[in-house]
Amino acid sequence: MNVQMARAFNELLTVKKRYKLYYGGRAGGKSFAFADSLLTLATSRKLLIACVREVQNSIKDSVYRLLADRIHFYKLDDVYRLYEDRIVNLQNKSKFIFKGIMEHNAQNIKSLEGVDICWCEEAQKISALAWEILDPTIRKPGAEIWLSLNREEEADPIWKALALKPDEDTLVKKVNFYDNPYCPAEMKKLAAKMKADNYEEYLHVWEGEPRNLAENHLIGRFEVYRALENNVTANPEQNALIMGVDVARFGDDKTAICLRCGRQVLKILTYAKLDVVQVAQTVANLIRQYRPIRVCIDVGGLGAGVYDILMAQGFAETVIAVNFGYQADNPERFVNKRAEMWARLRDWLRAELPVNLPNVEGIVEDLTAPQMMFDYLGRLQLEAKADIKKRLGHSPDLGDALALTFALQNIELLVQQRLVPLRGEFVDDSVYLF
Ligand SMILES: Nc1ncnc2c1ncn2[C@@H]1O[C@H](COP(=O)(O)OP(=O)(O)OP(=O)(O)O)[C@@H](O)[C@H]1O
Ligand SMILES: [Mg+2]
Repeated sequence: MNVQMARAFNELLTVKKRYKLYYGGRAGGKSFAFADSLLTLATSRKLLIACVREVQNSIKDSVYRLLADRIHFYKLDDVYRLYEDRIVNLQNKSKFIFKGIMEHNAQNIKSLEGVDICWCEEAQKISALAWEILDPTIRKPGAEIWLSLNREEEADPIWKALALKPDEDTLVKKVNFYDNPYCPAEMKKLAAKMKADNYEEYLHVWEGEPRNLAENHLIGRFEVYRALENNVTANPEQNALIMGVDVARFGDDKTAICLRCGRQVLKILTYAKLDVVQVAQTVANLIRQYRPIRVCIDVGGLGAGVYDILMAQGFAETVIAVNFGYQADNPERFVNKRAEMWARLRDWLRAELPVNLPNVEGIVEDLTAPQMMFDYLGRLQLEAKADIKKRLGHSPDLGDALALTFALQNIELLVQQRLVPLRGEFVDDSVYLF
């Protein structure tokens, strides 16, 4: 059997992992590649392969039809026999079975215990409960679980279980239509049309991004994507360089440091598992290297310790303590400092002149994470860090570090103190852009 598959799917056949998760938008080639890979394996040796979904009302809901088509395409009609509910390789006795996970009673689930490879198609629809049943049932030594999905919501159970923090047993890979060399021209046309008509929807349907379900996200994915694509080079002679430091609060949070110069974010750095002394040391080194005009540190949690150390080391002129919970510069519009900083960040992203973000891992997720609401006085309030973490499984550390670079009002005065000429535009009365 000589299969032709997009390079993106090589690992299906070449790498040994318990979990292989491929996600992305329409027409990425996932279903075809999974079917072809499974047929390749089932033709070469005896395997029991289960194709599962959350619920499978009839065999028509399954990938049975696709497998049958590919068998025919590869002229394997003599090798495979299509039964009503299964497909069997007559030569080596490999077998494909098709199941709905939630339709299993205790007896029935046992039929999955000898499975070598389990394919979960449309895995975004698998519930936490179904996953709890399925995962331990696939227990044959060396068994693999392959998952293909198009993310629906930010917190799809499978995404949280496997992809948020993939371990060494897990392969997570994104594939979109432009990675699929066999993508039909009509599909590409549809994608281009939606990109022009409705970019948010395009990002979900064709780029595999989850939907921003609620209207109430402060920052939209579109704004972040645009900033990732832009090319902006700020002039350090004319723009103030500001550093934001968001110190990890819990064991699995990251310390994030952001360097922004006007409309360009030069760097976003993340560090795991540093203590306060190490964070202070890192910040001190960065100050010496980049000479930012100000460094804004979140002192709400452990950051207070970092701040104290930097004070003691003689950085009092540069380092500013920012408390997310404190009063905003404009308390009539913002519940607290954090809401105000994030709103400035949003305005910066939406400004007419282009702004630029570096494409670091997690940047889209973090910036689009917080939901916003308004209190009874009509002031903007941001979803609390702890609530975001509960909802999504991660806290938006990169976003907080970037927001911290917007902590200061009247930054132009600071620039003037350094006799740096001003060049910029007002977004509103509280923020000045360079
Ligand atoms: N190996 C291949 N040989 C020929 N055509 C292919 C192959 N792989 C993909 N295609 C073409 O690309 C199209 C999209 O592939 P596929 O349906 O596998 O994508 P998908 O990622 O599963 O997307 P969807 O979310 O739309 O199901 C197919 O309809 C088919 O026309
Ligand atoms: Mg598919």
